[in-house]
Amino acid sequence: MLLGTQRINDDGIVEIGGCSAVDLARDYGTPLYVVDEQALRETCRGYRRAFEARYPNTHISFSSKVFTTMAICRVVEQEGLGVDVSSGGELYTALSAGVAPASIVMHGNNKSPQEMEMAVAAKVGRIGIDYLEEIDAVQRIAAAREATVDILIRVAPGVDADTHTHIQTGKVDTKFGLAIANGDAKEAVAAALRAPNLRLRGINCHIGSQIFDLHPFAEAAQMMVDFAAQLRAEVGFTVEDLDLGGGLGVRYLPGDAPPSLDEYAETVANAVKAACDRQKMPLPRLILEPGRSLIGEAGTTLYTIGVVKTIPGVRTYVAVDGGMSDNPRPALYGARYSALIANKAHLDPVTKVTVSGKHCETDTLIVDLEVPEPEPGDILAVQTTGAYNYSMASNYNRLSRPAAVLVSDGRAEVIVERESLEDLARLDRIPQRLRAAGREALS
Ligand code: LLP
Repeated sequence: MLLGTQRINDDGIVEIGGCSAVDLARDYGTPLYVVDEQALRETCRGYRRAFEARYPNTHISFSSKVFTTMAICRVVEQEGLGVDVSSGGELYTALSAGVAPASIVMHGNNKSPQEMEMAVAAKVGRIGIDYLEEIDAVQRIAAAREATVDILIRVAPGVDADTHTHIQTGKVDTKFGLAIANGDAKEAVAAALRAPNLRLRGINCHIGSQIFDLHPFAEAAQMMVDFAAQLRAEVGFTVEDLDLGGGLGVRYLPGDAPPSLDEYAETVANAVKAACDRQKMPLPRLILEPGRSLIGEAGTTLYTIGVVKTIPGVRTYVAVDGGMSDNPRPALYGARYSALIANKAHLDPVTKVTVSGKHCETDTLIVDLEVPEPEPGDILAVQTTGAYNYSMASNYNRLSRPAAVLVSDGRAEVIVERESLEDLARLDRIPQRLRAAGREALS
């Protein structure tokens, strides 16, 4: 499987954005996150084109949690997308990158007072209200600043998406948002309309992530419009913004066949238009918040293969110089990935191996990967690591988080520096009383 601008050059080496994976590994070290700029830009354009053709009043917002860095914010902003954030840190990153505050949507199921304050002070375009008490909290902050804040109310439409339970977020039984079914969402809308410093603009939902089946998207769209019609009839509020969140899946394995952007747009746009037509509602502005499907396939992680250990009759372990610290998704969600030996991409697979990381536990990245004969020093390119990899990386075992480079037209540029050993201990403090010398160890 080759994605985006990936190709195999005459030497049998994988190139991404015209850069040899072997050169990238040598020049920037491994593990290394590589972002294919052209692939990312094309997906941004694909999203815009797909919706402009079917539902021109659409605002596409990059869900920055998938890969929160300033340079990525710049690229999507240049492509005319907004950015949505769900914490003070993500907001700070987007603002530092120069994203126009008005195109930022601030989410979060448990925003701290500081985060709310920060969002109001920055004059973000929308704040997504997630629970009833948040209405009062944001109202107070807005009143103190004599500001008017545009808000959305996050509702739980009660749609079960067919994806991993950890990332099903639109069910009734969810920590996110206010349920339509039990009247909470309607109550929040009424409360928001009473708040003098809040301007309610619409409603938002997000049903889950890595979804291939288009049906739940249509179902959610329809339920949201039906709810909007109920609001108009019962509280006299007309929804201007209908934010349906993100969730479209990507290819992790060669057999994966997610819907195309056109199919997705067709489904969502038709569902919204049909429901509005049935409810005799004016068409709202549609907001979509793709994350994974914008950048997932544009990301590749390069590792250097170290120990190759064959247990005869059992399996071969191929150990790489990263693991669950740079990609916790296999451990967390049982996520599966495909990979190539980047310097042997022209060779046919001859063996099946398990790719393991270097952490002090099982730490398996890929089970049963078919590869040419693996050897220490080979470069393994794991595909589709652009979403929720860097952003979920940790320093487990005090590994440095990898660098990230943006590649295009044969040029590579660092967008995140690799953490140094000094960085790792930078925030550590030793209380004075611990400074006295201890017993000599291991003589
Ligand atoms: N909007 C909201 C309000 C969200 O909560 C999310 C993701 C998105 C948009 C973007 O969804 P996407 O298009 O990426 O599916 N860490 C998990 C995924 C968690 C998704 C959280 N919400 C993973 O690695 O699979």
